[in-house]
Amino acid sequence: MNTKIVTIDTDNIDEAAIEEAGSIIRRGGLVAFPTETVYGLGANALDKEAAGKVYAAKGRPSDNPLIVHISDRKMIRPLVKNIPEAAEKLMDAFWPGPLTLIFEKSDSVPKETTGGLDTVAIRFPNHPIANRLIDAAGVCIAAPSANVSGKPSPTLGEHVVDDMNGRIDMIIDGGMVGMGLESTIIDVTVEPPMILRPGFITYEMASDVVGQVNIDRTILKKPDGEFKPKAPGMKYRHYAPTADYSIYKGEADKVADKIAFLANEKSNAGMKVGIITADQHLKLYEGKLNEDIKLVSLGDLDKPETIANKLFMALRNFDKINTQFIFGEAFSEDNVGRAIMNRLTKAAGYNIVDV
Ligand code: TXA
Ligand code: MG
Repeated sequence: MNTKIVTIDTDNIDEAAIEEAGSIIRRGGLVAFPTETVYGLGANALDKEAAGKVYAAKGRPSDNPLIVHISDRKMIRPLVKNIPEAAEKLMDAFWPGPLTLIFEKSDSVPKETTGGLDTVAIRFPNHPIANRLIDAAGVCIAAPSANVSGKPSPTLGEHVVDDMNGRIDMIIDGGMVGMGLESTIIDVTVEPPMILRPGFITYEMASDVVGQVNIDRTILKKPDGEFKPKAPGMKYRHYAPTADYSIYKGEADKVADKIAFLANEKSNAGMKVGIITADQHLKLYEGKLNEDIKLVSLGDLDKPETIANKLFMALRNFDKINTQFIFGEAFSEDNVGRAIMNRLTKAAGYNIVDV
């Protein structure tokens, strides 16, 4: 398939290109587009064949449901059986924005879109291109992250091109996304509501609005037979670089010493090695590392949003230079940190070492 790649300026949207993208979606095709979280791979959410194409393009297991994107709160009514009070409060507080809510689905949403479930995930994004595209399509848009299944989510148009060129009809490159981590998912079909995937809308923010909120216990722990994550997508190996990635937790200087030792050992054995750190810890590695080791800071520990923003890109960049081993520091799990560590823990296949 020939993929049309167009660059659209968020501040000066090319209406003709958006109309073309909208008509591709309307007639059952696939268009990747930027949102404020990560890039999405869009299809008409109410067209089961189009939904099927999304699974094929991503190589995604068919039991992993898609998120339905809307551009107006009014679009939600035909998609759901009911709107619980907690949902109304969360929508008032955080929509449009990086929050996905799980509802009981109506009959109009095909099971192909919901991975066979009787519930549907709905999100009202806050990104001018995403919102204009949904309006132009005239339908709600099912969109998983626009990566090949299992790979880190795309935060740049270039990442989408790497993964999806030749597999879909169109890619809209709208530059770097603002946040870099996928939306928070909250299940409002249960009382109290439950966070299934952490994101920029934190536990603290959600509890301030609706009172008690539970957290799916598999968010930071490895799922086992008894505890399966409620969001089917959270059970797969995910966000994973090709390299063998392990995370080290403990006091900063001890962690840096341990990482430097292990990194040098692999590098001496001729392996390509990378290290993930933060701005404040760069100095802990000074003069300690073999020259060919790639030391990458994700950002400022006091501004976790900078770390969130660079995380998937860093994992992809390590792949591009054929890194074989990545040794990474653990980050704080407070607030947005919970989402950061959720993604990193999965990317590392739960390979976390206490130092
Ligand atoms: O920020 C985002 O949410 C991005 C952008 C493109 O909007 N989308 C995204 O989609 O991250 P995806 O497909 O990569 O992740 C969707 C997650 C999966 O873990 C899936 O299992 C879960 O949402 N999910 C979708 N529908 C669900 C449902 N009915 N019940 C439980 N989990 C659901
Ligand atoms: Mg995804």
